[in-house]
Amino acid sequence: MNLTEKAALLSGKDFWHTEAADGAPSVMLTDGPHGLRKQAGEGDHLGLGDSNPATCFPPAVALGASFDPDLVAEVGTMIAAEARAEDVAVVLGPGINLKRSPLCGRNFEYFSEDPHLSGLLGSAWVRGLQSGGVGASLKHFAANNQEHDRLRVSADIDERPLRELYLRAFERVVRDADPWTVMCSYNAINGVLASENPWLLTTVLREEWGYAGLVVSDWGAVRDRVTSLAAGLDLQMPGVGGASDAEVVAAVEAGELDESVVDRSAGRVAALAARAQAAAAERPARPLAALHAEHHDAARRIAGHCIVLLRNEPVGDAPLLPLTPGSRIAVIGEFARTPRYQGAGSSRINPTRLDSALEELRRLHPDLTFTGDDPAEASAAATAAEVAVLFLGLPAEEESEGFDRAHLDLPVEQLDLLAAVLAAQPRTVVVLSAGGVVSVPHPEQVPALVQASLLGQAGGGAVADVLTGRVNPSARLAETVPLRLADSPAFLDFPGERGHVRYGEGVFVGYRWYDARALPVTFPFGHGLSYTTFEHTDLGVHGRPDGLDVQVTITNTGAVTGREVVQVYAGKPASQLTRPPRALVGTAVVELAAGESRVVRVDVPLHALESWFTGYGWAVEAGEYTIEVGASSRDLRARTHVSLDGPDLRPLLHLESTLGEVLEDPVAGPLVAAGLAEMAPDEADDVEGMGQMLMSFPIGRVLTMAGGAVSTADIQALLDAANQAR
Ligand code: BGC
Repeated sequence: MNLTEKAALLSGKDFWHTEAADGAPSVMLTDGPHGLRKQAGEGDHLGLGDSNPATCFPPAVALGASFDPDLVAEVGTMIAAEARAEDVAVVLGPGINLKRSPLCGRNFEYFSEDPHLSGLLGSAWVRGLQSGGVGASLKHFAANNQEHDRLRVSADIDERPLRELYLRAFERVVRDADPWTVMCSYNAINGVLASENPWLLTTVLREEWGYAGLVVSDWGAVRDRVTSLAAGLDLQMPGVGGASDAEVVAAVEAGELDESVVDRSAGRVAALAARAQAAAAERPARPLAALHAEHHDAARRIAGHCIVLLRNEPVGDAPLLPLTPGSRIAVIGEFARTPRYQGAGSSRINPTRLDSALEELRRLHPDLTFTGDDPAEASAAATAAEVAVLFLGLPAEEESEGFDRAHLDLPVEQLDLLAAVLAAQPRTVVVLSAGGVVSVPHPEQVPALVQASLLGQAGGGAVADVLTGRVNPSARLAETVPLRLADSPAFLDFPGERGHVRYGEGVFVGYRWYDARALPVTFPFGHGLSYTTFEHTDLGVHGRPDGLDVQVTITNTGAVTGREVVQVYAGKPASQLTRPPRALVGTAVVELAAGESRVVRVDVPLHALESWFTGYGWAVEAGEYTIEVGASSRDLRARTHVSLDGPDLRPLLHLESTLGEVLEDPVAGPLVAAGLAEMAPDEADDVEGMGQMLMSFPIGRVLTMAGGAVSTADIQALLDAANQAR
């Protein structure tokens, strides 16, 4: 291929396809990620135009709550089968950005506020998809945690939170699941656009993490094609009619860009096409109609494991849920009939079917009554029934790609409805449909509260399954529900000002923040009830060179089969770093029959215990760690301790090291102490006695005040000897 032909590969042929070249076919990349959004006609990335019917699986907000990588992998596999049938090579997902603020308009497309969980589920999704011969596009790399000004805003983040939180899930998915492509985000990081960021796209992604796949731009993220190519962005999407390819050719011809950069990126585009072609040849496509039928049933089963039972208090002698067979039910609220099941924007799927909870409940309770939103009618219906099931949630226009939310409140009309129904019927179940956190005022007055988030096209059936007890709920909150928006970590730094958003909360995101500040919350991270109960006993931890083996016995102490999400948290109370009290380092999902006990093993890799030490890199800090196991971040049932070895993380000594730091060193310390004693014999008994003030002086500068008694060269030699001994 000549230079012009190679450059042509570096941008799309149109909105969704790569260019063909030299035996490599043109391939289609299209959205996802909770189904396939293949547009047969005109392309758009805003979710406006139509797309072919596809199964709409539960969006990431729901899958995150399952805490279950097997289910998430299954979704990936099913999407791959539909993509194969539609001749799509790459599905643009998963989105694994962290939920930094509950206001982010796109939180429904992301898994969690925790990087361990996001990485675990993101990897599972990629592995599932790619096992079906279709490539993933891990997005949006990186620090795209808001929609406000998303094409320009600079996310200003210190290196430690950037590494430990915002890049961590990406690192895990890249290393564990090797996505065929990574999509760079629109925003800038510390002043440099992600699409032009050599540190992000080359140093971290390729040199540190060893990524060998293709980097594609988010749609329209490229500002300067030559700069982005040099930074490591291989493929610009969508295509711009060859204009940017010509810029690349001109830059090479002018000697401003090395042709080897073009060769490398063009090679990656050709390799992607070849990979897709080979994978497709191995896996013949199945007919779509059969897939759609099977996948609808699977989507219902999976959605059932994504529903979080937040409260289930006894009214009279038993908890309200599951509903008693044959009871007179008043179903209230339009969302029961017209479900909210996905968010707006580029991920909008055209579902093959759409189930409503109302129809599905009616199959089991044919006599139920239904009322839409009028408080007076709702109150009458609730009074006449034995139990009211009230559907509330965020209106579709309040959460979307492209803008952020302004508050966490439900609309006033819904609050009026809630008050009317609660006043009329103490036996009220509230079902919430929303892709982000919503606050329900006085949740303690609602005896049963179910978070149905956004569950995809078969969610109506799944809600009915949980309410009637055909499915025992097991999902957990992957995001804290704060008491007030003003308590949330990024409250004062979201969405930023004058083009910058400062991540001032540092590593304290989600429960890390609420726990560190001991703030009361409405529902903690990891919370979710079941129709049975579990006991956690006999916690044991064994260290291995590459991590920890955590073992705990889980017993189903209730009367029905249930699934428990075992959560392992680690903390390090005494540390050189400011740390949250605990962070999630491992999870497991276990299904147990009533009365059954099982020893559950959770593997905690060493990297999960590592922190980022500026000037050093990743390291496990030596010392004692607390390992806690529980049913949420605030319902910890067992605790133990483990001591870990780690490298010497003290910075090397130099002339600007303080006297205090030098005195702590086992080699330099005693010699300097003796020298000081000679110089100031009155204070010889107690070097500490020289006072805190002197201790904070850099050693090189103390010498300048010692009247030439010791030379700088002597002290440098001493520091060198101490450094060598480390
Ligand atoms: C979104 C991506 C999406 C792309 C293509 C962009 O606006 O940020 O998530 O994959 O459009 O539709």
